[in-house]
Amino acid sequence: MTDTLLLERERGLLTLRLNRPEKKNALTRAMYSQLAQALAMADADPQISAVLICGSHDCFTAGNDIVDFLEQPPADLDNPVFEFMLSLLDCRKPVIAAVAGPAVGIGTTLLLHCDLIYVSRDARLRTPFVSLGLCPEFGSSLILPRLLGQARAAQLLLLGEGLSGEQAAAWGIATEALDSGEAALAKARDVALRFESLPAEAVRISKQLMKAPDREQLRAVIEEEGWLFTQRLRSPEAVAALSGFINRH
Ligand code: COA
Repeated sequence: MTDTLLLERERGLLTLRLNRPEKKNALTRAMYSQLAQALAMADADPQISAVLICGSHDCFTAGNDIVDFLEQPPADLDNPVFEFMLSLLDCRKPVIAAVAGPAVGIGTTLLLHCDLIYVSRDARLRTPFVSLGLCPEFGSSLILPRLLGQARAAQLLLLGEGLSGEQAAAWGIATEALDSGEAALAKARDVALRFESLPAEAVRISKQLMKAPDREQLRAVIEEEGWLFTQRLRSPEAVAALSGFINRH
């Protein structure tokens, strides 16, 4: 069996590479657990100065595995997805993301918790929660309206309209858009390695200060969204929409 999450260490940089190309890097429960463990490990290891999350050159991730959603819908917040969310939220090291191709659902919302995000111009970010009978998660119902204003956030969260990498950079969701997936990954890696030569304690305190004002509210919203999301997963609307994707051929 191939590893669906590859951990690569390069000096002080830990790269977490999603590696399930045959399923567009859709995230399984096992992958969430591995991501959570890797983030906690990076957080605790003084030799690690930054974490890079990436997929392949043409696909970041198709989001949560839809078969898992149907077959093992979480009943409460004691589950690997929530564990992953908290580990990203609590990670004190800089987390950098490199995005190419589709970044669907949590593939987009996880970016809202990364510190620096490099995307290919033609990346496709999408949060189709409503059309799947679901609701926003991972704090996106708080962060996106704040970042974009209600009008643009509604385009993404209510209509599920996608946006390109170029637009994501223009709207402040991404740091920079680059010409290709390879270029986005190379830039993300260069930036991530720069943290090796920056004073670690100053980086930690600065990130903490940047995150502190919203931390408690964000945590409460993530929990509230999480409860509603788990209920939605069992709703006839969601079961029909998710089954529709699985049976589309
Ligand atoms: N969960 C489980 N399997 C998924 C998946 C997901 N989220 N996304 C894609 N796959 C699987 C497909 O079922 C297909 O498997 P198969 O070859 O065994 O039939 C394979 O990955 C390739 O997907 P396909 O749709 O053929 O690729 P594409 O390049 O045409 O489209 C996406 C890529 C990401 C745009 C499209 O797969 C998609 O929209 N996926 C669903 C995204 C989603 O709604 N996620 C949940 C958000 S909450």
